[in-house]
Amino acid sequence: MKLLVTGGAGYIGSVVGAQLVEAGHEVVVLDDLSTGHADAVPEGARFVQGSLREAAYGVLAEGGFDGVVHFAAKSLVGESVEQPALYWDKNLGESLALFDAMRRTGVAKIVFSSTAATYGEPESTPILETDPTRPTNPYGATKLAIDGVLTEYARLHGFGAVSLRYFNVAGALGPYGERHTVETHLIPNVLAVATGAREHVKLFGDDYPTEDGTCIRDYVHVVDLGNAHLLALDCCTEHEHRIYNLGSGSGYSVQQVVDVCRQVTGHPIPAEIAPRRAGDPAVLIASSEKIQAELGWRVERDLATMVADAWKFCQ
Ligand code: UFG
Repeated sequence: MKLLVTGGAGYIGSVVGAQLVEAGHEVVVLDDLSTGHADAVPEGARFVQGSLREAAYGVLAEGGFDGVVHFAAKSLVGESVEQPALYWDKNLGESLALFDAMRRTGVAKIVFSSTAATYGEPESTPILETDPTRPTNPYGATKLAIDGVLTEYARLHGFGAVSLRYFNVAGALGPYGERHTVETHLIPNVLAVATGAREHVKLFGDDYPTEDGTCIRDYVHVVDLGNAHLLALDCCTEHEHRIYNLGSGSGYSVQQVVDVCRQVTGHPIPAEIAPRRAGDPAVLIASSEKIQAELGWRVERDLATMVADAWKFCQ
């Protein structure tokens, strides 16, 4: 397929873009480099620098595109609380520009990066796709709104859309990995202590109602996540919008993640208990039974592999 990959210079976009190239697809990356890196654009992909609003139509109007894989987004929960208008504009506004460009150029297939943040604080775990969606921050609200737009574009304009709701993504694929200028995620922050870039890691809260008091999250290797995109592209069906959770179905506490990082790196990784971070649910675990049953997706890589691959990347 000839695919437009938005956000293909970012962490997940570059890894999955590389997997798409490897699988034989023709990939054109569109990224405004606001948070991505030009040298992260996967080898073998063509790169166009620009925003979706300015450039998506021009690229798609070249012709020959079979589909879009849409990663481009602002994705920091805390920043979204501080600057909600920026998130509505960049995430929803630019997605609308992209979808409109698709409609005008007759490209109907799309796989979209949605998030567990669309569910907010869950009533029960594991979280099912049919559970209530009550985002607790603007980031999750913008992603939920985009899911809603895709449902309408499927109904009105025949889009074949798949939203993949990521839980916690980790790991790397060779030279493609996580390097945010502002790093908020747990595993890269822990590994930064092992490389000497930070002195210690802060554990945000040890008084949650979990066994060791730290938050529990469902981690998925970015390559397993990419495999779900390959399967999703094959199942996009006109006039249909499907939503799938992407998680492993089991969780690790912050403390357990730090312990795995210590084992993998052989570094003592000093940790300090810090106050809770605003808006963190105690436990987020996905049910991925739907995507397993309908697309045959499987998790193949465990947390130690995620940490080992991220460790190789950040060294
Ligand atoms: N944490 C720490 N110390 C750190 C960083 C994180 O203790 O330095 C803790 C957090 O408080 C949380 C856990 O580690 O309990 C995981 O935090 P991350 O920031 O790595 O990931 P989140 O679960 O907060 O966020 C992820 C995605 C978001 C998405 C969210 C909800 O990265 O994009 O899940 O779906 F919005």
